[in-house]
Amino acid sequence: MILKNKVAIVTGAKQGIGYGIALALAKEGCKVVVSDLNQKDCQVAAEKIKKEGVKILAVACDVSKKSEVDNLIAKTVKEFSQLDILVNNAGIFPFVPFLDMKEADWDRVIDTNLKSIFLCSQAALKKMKAGGKIVNISSIASFVGFEGLTHYCASKGGINALVRALALELAPKKINVNAVAPGAINTPGAAGVMTKKEKDQTIAIIPAKRFGLPEDIANTVVFLASNKADYITGQTIIVDGGWTLR
Ligand SMILES: NC(=O)c1ccc[n+]([C@@H]2O[C@H](COP(=O)([O-])OP(=O)(O)OC[C@H]3O[C@@H](n4cnc5c(N)ncnc54)[C@H](O)[C@@H]3O)[C@@H](O)[C@H]2O)c1
Repeated sequence: MILKNKVAIVTGAKQGIGYGIALALAKEGCKVVVSDLNQKDCQVAAEKIKKEGVKILAVACDVSKKSEVDNLIAKTVKEFSQLDILVNNAGIFPFVPFLDMKEADWDRVIDTNLKSIFLCSQAALKKMKAGGKIVNISSIASFVGFEGLTHYCASKGGINALVRALALELAPKKINVNAVAPGAINTPGAAGVMTKKEKDQTIAIIPAKRFGLPEDIANTVVFLASNKADYITGQTIIVDGGWTLR
């Protein structure tokens, strides 16, 4: 158990990649704060993860709202008296052709996917000590373009750039900041909304010939959150079954 007695927050953790990360952290002995938009959803996920035998706290938080983010951090520290790991996972990816995109569409994606990283990281860093880790969930959409996702691609590219700058600023404090860039992962929000034809077309272009699993991302996050990754900072690690290789 490489994270025994550490305390982690995972945002967007009721399902998909976030749930997979929260479960993997718990399996490594971490006390986990399971956070998502709705308190009931957080509690349902927390009850399942509790079976790993570690303490789990459920706290609802819309990561685009500063007051809710501050409440998430305050509740975490009140319950567990420390905060070692922040996983900024919550994100949305609504397809909208660029010329149809409303200002509100743009703002919602940027606020949820990018401004949230600023809000959550700043609030968490006020409580984190040396050895702390921030892991952000980016996307291969930060490296390659996807039609209908200009706002999303911009938000994820922004994450990679933020990670490099924040990692530099925090290196003297011995706090590491990294990102994981998933390819196509089998989650309710992604593969879960595709038709059979869309899934087959997606698998056809992935060199590994399968969707990734939340565990594929979670394994990388666990590593980056552990002291085995103490000398890695400012990086975005692609986990995509080879999608971006050609
Ligand atoms: N699944 C993929 O193929 C894929 C690929 C690359 C990157 N990602 C990224 O991985 C992350 C998780 O994606 P997923 O596929 O598990 O998605 P998902 O839609 O299955 O789950 C996302 C979770 O985030 C929560 N969420 C949405 N807005 C929120 C907000 N404002 N505050 C708090 N929580 C919020 C949702 O309620 C949901 O539980 C996202 O950042 C996404 O961009 C996913």
